[in-house]
Formats: sequence, structure tokens, C-alpha cells
Amino acid sequence: MVKIRPGLLGLCALAALLAACSSQPTLNTDHSPQEAAGQTLFTRHCAACHSLNADTVIVGPPLAGIATQAQQRVVGMDASTYLHQSIMQPSAYLVEGFSDLMPPTLGQVLSPEEVDALVAYMLTLHE
Ligand code: HEC
Repeated sequence: MVKIRPGLLGLCALAALLAACSSQPTLNTDHSPQEAAGQTLFTRHCAACHSLNADTVIVGPPLAGIATQAQQRVVGMDASTYLHQSIMQPSAYLVEGFSDLMPPTLGQVLSPEEVDALVAYMLTLHE
């Protein structure tokens, strides 16, 4: 699940340029409280189907880089709106090559604050 990049890790340790590494999901230590809450929710409700490793497909598409992809999914829809819709109405847009298997009930299971936290967390997942 954790992608190890010895070269990059070594470079960062050497130069102590932690900021340069913060775009790596697995090395991200600067989450806001909301983003951290979203990460916990993600582990509980989403990680069974969504890997954070770009090369690993479980049931749904991997969400590595979703912050970037979400901007390009639907013309005229920004990343935050797309990610909200992905949780509240998963059938509204289907990622190519995937079936409509995401639970439609997440919008009832999760509070609006929890959905916001999940979206904030996913917006940190750049490639
Ligand atoms: C039972 C498996 C399952 C669970 C649990 C699940 N998903 Fe999904 N998800 C899918 C599938 C399958 C797709 C692809 C079809 C589609 O677009 O709806 C998908 C698509 C997505 C997409 C669109 C990805 C893209 O590349 O555009 C996002 C975002 C997403 N899910 C977020 C979540 C979040 C957040 C949770 C937890 C709250 C979650 N999913 C829980 C199966 C799941």
C-alpha cells in the first residue's frame, strides 16, 4: 500500500526539504484537523474499495492523484463539487471502465461535516 521511493526519501532527508515531499500522500504530515478527520473516515468507509496506490485497483479506482483528476472529470465542475457528488450521488458520473458499485447510501451514513472532511482530505491527494 505504501509506495517507497528511496531516491526521493533520501533526497528529502538529506536536504531536509520536507515541504518538497508534502505532495506525496504517504509522506503527508501537515494535514489540518479537518483533513486528518477525513483521512480517518476514508480508512473506515472507503479504503476497502479505493487504494491510495495508483497501481492498485480494488473495487473502485485508486484515488492517488484524485485532487488533480477531479478537476478534469466533468466540464465546468470544480474538484470540490465533483468529489462531493461522488459521495452523495455516486451514479451521477461513472469512471470509465468501472461499474456502478459504490454504495448509494453514503450520503445518509455520513454527516455533512464528515462528507466535507472526506472531500478536504481527497483534495490533498495530488500526484
Ligand atoms: C463498495 C466499494 C466502494 C466503496 C465502499 C466506496 N467506493 Fe468510491 N467508487 C467505487 C467504484 C466502483 C467507483 C467507480 C464508479 C463510479 O464512478 O461511481 C467509485 C468512484 C469513486 C470516486 C470517483 C473517482 C474518480 O476517479 O473520478 C470517488 C471520488 C470515490 N469513489 C470516493 C469514495 C469515497 C470518499 C468513499 C468513502 C466515503 C468511497 N468512494 C467508497 C466503489 C466504492
